[in-house]
Amino acid sequence: MSNLSTRYMGLNLKNPLVCSSSPLCDDLDALRRMEDSGAAAVVLRSLFEEQLELESMGLDYRLSSGSHTGAEAPSYFPDMPTYNLGPDAYLDHIRRAKETLEIPVIASLNGVSPGGWIQYSKLIEQAGADGLELNLYDIPTDPRISSGELEDGYVALVRQLNSIVSFPLAVKLSPFFTSPAAFGVRLSEAGADALVLFNRFYQPDLDLETLDVVPRLHLSQSNELPLRLHWTAILFDHVKADIGITGGVHSPLDVLKCMMVGARVAMLTSALLTHGIEHLTSLLTGVHRWLDEHEYPAIQPVQGCMSLSSIPDPRAYERGNYMKVLQSWILRHDSGSPVEQS
Ligand SMILES: Cc1cc2nc3c(=O)[nH]c(=O)nc-3n(C[C@H](O)[C@H](O)[C@H](O)COP(=O)(O)O)c2cc1C
Repeated sequence: MSNLSTRYMGLNLKNPLVCSSSPLCDDLDALRRMEDSGAAAVVLRSLFEEQLELESMGLDYRLSSGSHTGAEAPSYFPDMPTYNLGPDAYLDHIRRAKETLEIPVIASLNGVSPGGWIQYSKLIEQAGADGLELNLYDIPTDPRISSGELEDGYVALVRQLNSIVSFPLAVKLSPFFTSPAAFGVRLSEAGADALVLFNRFYQPDLDLETLDVVPRLHLSQSNELPLRLHWTAILFDHVKADIGITGGVHSPLDVLKCMMVGARVAMLTSALLTHGIEHLTSLLTGVHRWLDEHEYPAIQPVQGCMSLSSIPDPRAYERGNYMKVLQSWILRHDSGSPVEQS
């Protein structure tokens, strides 16, 4: 049977399947089932800085972060005292997850201010987490803040955290940076041990009857994967940081595609919420089967074999692909509808 071992953010993993941050990881039984079903590591749900502030300011805390805060703003946050785990419970959860599992446990933090990130990174390290994923989910709604300022802030944060903690750091990014490749390189140079591509952007919907802006969370499908594959293929040859793909990994072939463009791990949430945690086992079986059929002794030689610099025609990932895609549609004159050219 092929050897699936991989290395991710300095951790030796038995295979490339990682359960990404989600409420599934709040439950110790679910974590145990993930390990039993073959997960090589788990990422716990993010601790949000709003939760830290809540604790330090008491339950009368009025949410005041963000530029659009007004009397209505707190209703856009979940009920903080009951949402997820508070900071102390979060640290306890790390300790208990570590006691329960053999596989690495990666914590996740979503901060707002440098102080919040720093204070809790240290506590998370002391609680025994094997690494920390920095979840950079933020919505820069202030048009006076330039992309350069934002990126400089994130890079400085990673550099600072890297000098303060000694466990590995991953950075989970959104795809909406002007140049994701340049930003990824800067984060890697600042000390990120891994880059996680990409955070999903949870766009709210509009209710036309009530004139409410309503939160919506749809689980992903495999059609979200190509965006991640594309940028991983581009970044692979330019960064020391390992790349993890999150978003749209559902099948064994999805996992293999992630590996081929250069990811060290493929992360899963929607697939597990849809098919159950035991889906991990069938993914591993499928990956083994494919590698055996194609006579690969291990996953490592597969990793990066279809990155930008490894494929014969790099235009497939560049501007040429755009033109080719546009040309692949022709208008059928009888119906007037576009069809894909064979
Ligand atoms: C219900 C739910 C809660 C999530 N919570 C977090 C979170 O706390 N922190 C985080 O970084 N990502 C969170 N995510 C995002 C997932 O970790 C993952 O990146 C995303 O769902 C894309 O992967 P998928 O296509 O496998 O679902 C959450 C996703 C879901 C569906």
